[in-house]
Amino acid sequence: MTVPFIVGTDNKSLNTAMPTSLDQDRLPNHIAIIMDGNGRWAKQKKLPRTIGHTAGVEALKKTLRLCSNWGIKVLTVYAFSTENWSRPKEEVNFLMKLFESVLQKEIEFLNLEDVRVDFIGELKELPVKLQDLIKEAIKLTKNNTGICFNVCANYGGRRELVRAAQKLANRAMIGELHPALIDENIFKEELFTSKFADPDLLIRTSGEKRISNFLLWQLAYAEIHITDVYWPDFNEVSLTNALLDFQSRRRRFGGVDQISSDQS
Ligand code: FPP
Repeated sequence: MTVPFIVGTDNKSLNTAMPTSLDQDRLPNHIAIIMDGNGRWAKQKKLPRTIGHTAGVEALKKTLRLCSNWGIKVLTVYAFSTENWSRPKEEVNFLMKLFESVLQKEIEFLNLEDVRVDFIGELKELPVKLQDLIKEAIKLTKNNTGICFNVCANYGGRRELVRAAQKLANRAMIGELHPALIDENIFKEELFTSKFADPDLLIRTSGEKRISNFLLWQLAYAEIHITDVYWPDFNEVSLTNALLDFQSRRRRFGGVDQISSDQS
């Protein structure tokens, strides 16, 4: 049974129904988001960058709630990249503490709401307290059947690919796998996301037109929606626009449309 969302302080959009402009039958199964622009949002308001990140958490809670209520099956977000360690130490520390406090405060609610939480990335390099909270969150929610919510933390796409190559090389070295048998399916099994279908839609906020080392393998055929909205301002209208954009695309996966192939 899915319990309506009750997470956090803003309960205004508790049971927000999906806008009728959207086609329920053509929703993406899996949405990935690069949540960008927290710092610029704060700067624009003459506030410290940290306030931008705190506001970003609220936007994330709302987005997760909307995706769950509208029937999206998987939401994967880029919370901290392997490159983000190069930010000022105070900002990195703030972000780690923020992740800890969000997990502590929200995990019971997420569990009640049937959300299945997972973390993706080199988790062993995160602070030990955060690692423990992550383990608890995964364990607590692992049998939930609602939306799968994947948080990428200390994640880098190239590093994930190198890690997969190392795992396959090890298996080949011990004679478990013949190199000639390595194909896309076997490779995919070694990725952090092996149990999920690839994202259908990538949303990036704040107008940047880059993938920034996010899910390099998995985004091969994703539709990309870029919005100028800064992440803390991302809301129901922004998500609706992203989904309308997605529904306006023809996905061909390298093939051709039936119509154009008939005409050619
Ligand atoms: C990018 O904005 C944002 C981040 C690096 C952090 C995103 C994290 C959150 C929204 C909190 C998520 C919390 C949990 C528990 C998953 P930026 O700082 O790069 O902004 P800028 O490009 O404007 O400087």
